[in-house]
This record gives sequence, C-alpha cells and structure tokens, in this order.
Amino acid sequence: ANQLKGKDFLTILDFSSDEIFYLLELASQMKREQKEGKSSNVLQGKSLGMIFENASTRTRVSFEVGMTQLGGHALFLSPRDLQIGRGEPISDTAQVLSRYVDAIMVRTNSHEKVEELAKYSTVPVINALTDYYHPCQALADLLTIYEQKGTFKGNKLVYVGDGNNVAHSLVIGAAKVGMDVAVATPAGYEMNQDIVEKAFEVAKSTGSTIKITNDPVEAVTNADIIYTDVWASMGYESEQKDRELAFGPYQVNSELVSHAKNDYIFLHCLPAHRGEEVTADIIDGQHSVVFDEAENRLHVQKAILASVIK
Ligand code: CP
Ligand code: NVA
Repeated sequence: ANQLKGKDFLTILDFSSDEIFYLLELASQMKREQKEGKSSNVLQGKSLGMIFENASTRTRVSFEVGMTQLGGHALFLSPRDLQIGRGEPISDTAQVLSRYVDAIMVRTNSHEKVEELAKYSTVPVINALTDYYHPCQALADLLTIYEQKGTFKGNKLVYVGDGNNVAHSLVIGAAKVGMDVAVATPAGYEMNQDIVEKAFEVAKSTGSTIKITNDPVEAVTNADIIYTDVWASMGYESEQKDRELAFGPYQVNSELVSHAKNDYIFLHCLPAHRGEEVTADIIDGQHSVVFDEAENRLHVQKAILASVIK
C-alpha cells in the first residue's frame, strides 16, 4: 500500500527500503504501461511547481513530461522571474506556492534552501539536485541496474570520481537496496563524512558492504556496474583546471574497465564530458546504458509524483 502521500523527498534517507522497492516497482509498471500506449489520469487537475536555480535538461523535461503523462500540469519557475530572485524569503514563497500547487520540485546549489522550503511548504517538496544530494537520479540508477542485472544483492556497484551529490545519493541508494558498493575518489575529493556515516548505518541494516578508497583500480576490480560523473559539478566550474590534474587517474577508460567483470555495465547521470571523466569508446560503447538510465528519470519521477501528491 502507498504510505507516501504528502511526504517530502529530500534525500534517499527519507524513504525506507520497502518504500524504495515500492517506487521502483511502480516505476517499472508505469514504464510498461506507457510503452503499451495506456494513458493515465492519476494526477488530473494537479500542478507541480518546478524551481530551477541552475541548468537542467533531463530533470526539467522528465518532470514536466511526467506530469503531462499523468494528466497534470507543471510550471517552470526560474528565480530570474520569481520574487525569490529579488529577495522574497523562501519561507513566504513556500507558503504561497503551497496555496496554488500540489507539489514543489526544486534544484538549487544549497541543500539548506531545500530544507527551508520543505519546512514551510504544506505540499510535498522533491529535491531535484542540491550540492549534497540527487535522490531522483539515484532512484533512476537503481531502476536501470535492476533492469539490466535482475537483482541488487550480489552486485558490486563502483563509483569512480568526485565525491559529490550524485555519489552521496547513489551510495545511500545502494545501501538501501542491499547492493555492495565501492567508491574511489582522489584525495581531497572524498564524499562528505556525515553522509558516509549515514550510508554505513543503512548498510548495517541491509547487509550491504561499502568500500571507500583513493585507488580506482582496487575499486573497479570485479565491478558489475561502473558509474562516474563530471569532475566539476555545477557551482565548481572555477576549479576545472585543478580538478583535471587531480582526476586524471580516475578517468573511466578501456584500461580501467579491464579490471571489471566482462559483463559490467556503465552508468553516468549525464551531462558527460568525453575525454574527461569517461572516454568516448566507453560511454558510447556496448556496455553503456546511459540513455536507458536517462529515460528512467521519467519513469521513477512519475512514480514519485503519483505517490506523494495527495
Ligand atoms: N542528470 C541530470 O540531472 O541531468 P540534468 O542536469 O540535465 O537535469
Ligand atoms: N554532479 C553534477 C550532476 C549534474 C546532473 C552536478 O551537480 O553538476
């Protein structure tokens, strides 16, 4: 049964393992039905406000199209146009939007802003990427892994690169579904320690293992899934040059993937930079499922929207 009505989705930690499995199952079902041409009206008359403080291709389009496919409507709201951009408090914005829309989706560099928005909203708030987390992405990643591998338990997911928002959500997501995970970052670019501790706590209860290292080869050895992300996330563009030096050995290329299992799959949240975090032969090659992964953003977000909107 759906116990998610009215809930916020700020991090994967907001949902239990059972709730995550429920959402993944619902997403698969919605994906199947959409491919069969069945239409749905579960969100008829409902509106989603989408606040984007920074750029987006996948998130914006998949949320907007997702609402349309469920019979609802989405509004793209940029701080350039909202009064928030001229200093109206987040708390007032949250209370006002809650009188109009049935859920709010927000992308911002500051996780605290999302927490503030959620605190004052009376409708569900969905995190569409902050400096700390990207939970919708992690759910899409889990769905993709499940489709490809048929199971979570016994699979080794390896994240190579920056210990960023995507890494945080992925590691917690893997722990929630009982998948083993290894993370290799350069020294100085490790994941946030508090978040890592939370992931270890989750892993303890589900029996998954988490390995954290600075050695990409050690991490990738026997990988079933290899995942990477950009070296300089939104907000860190000015560090690009330093990061290129630090991240060189963490490039996912044919040498690195030679340590993985023969049937490994490659994931990347996109947008990607070929020749930086991944070479073209890998991301455009036989093992890559990045476009299925991108597609699955639509299906998991439809499941989230249908579940949390009252
Ligand atoms: N993966 C992802 O969130 O992509 P966008 O930045 O294009 O939304
Ligand atoms: N880590 C990246 C993900 C983009 C979808 C960023 O925050 O820019």
